[in-house]
Amino acid sequence: MKKLAVLLSGRGSNFIKIYENIQSGVIKNAEIVLVISNKHDAPGLTYARESGLNAIYLNPKDYSDREQYDRAIVELLKKEKIDLVCLAGYMRIITKFFVESFPNKIINIHPSLLPAFPGLDAQRQALEYGVKYTGCTVHFVDEKVDHGAIILQEVVEVLEDDTVEALSARILQKEHIIYSRAIDLIVNDRIYIDGRIVRFKKV
Ligand code: GRF
Repeated sequence: MKKLAVLLSGRGSNFIKIYENIQSGVIKNAEIVLVISNKHDAPGLTYARESGLNAIYLNPKDYSDREQYDRAIVELLKKEKIDLVCLAGYMRIITKFFVESFPNKIINIHPSLLPAFPGLDAQRQALEYGVKYTGCTVHFVDEKVDHGAIILQEVVEVLEDDTVEALSARILQKEHIIYSRAIDLIVNDRIYIDGRIVRFKKV
């Protein structure tokens, strides 16, 4: 059984989907043993608590800088012997210290087809740019924002008269599918990283 930690800051719909997919066996050989939030009122954190998970709020204001904060998180993750860290709407840029403490063991979901539209408001960026297709990306986390090796992507068509809300909702449906699929591939040892290319292992 691989031990997962989820870091979140808000709604937590990706986390909830991952949790449900573990319960129902869509993701095999994994358990969520820790949920951490930098927001005390994150709905995702409440859901985790109500589900009986180990759910921890860490207040950034209690730490002198970003690295001290990340050191506290890394300590928790190491204590629980976490195998894979899943960022799911975690609205903080993680430090080099954190990335280097869990090499190729931190993944993130982003609501665009990277490398297009990194950073905040990716769905709005796509709409305003006028692309005809956008989507979502699950990737390994490295020191640059929304940059690491790409694990899975899914395409979403931009419609005439689309709105940020409508487009975001359609992208989110795909996020919920590919994030779980990516986790299943990693915990069941189906992929490896070759430079910055993620390759499937031959079966
Ligand atoms: C998602 O769109 C994800 O791609 C982005 O933040 C949002 C989080 O949504 N990183 P939720 O909290 O998982 O519902």
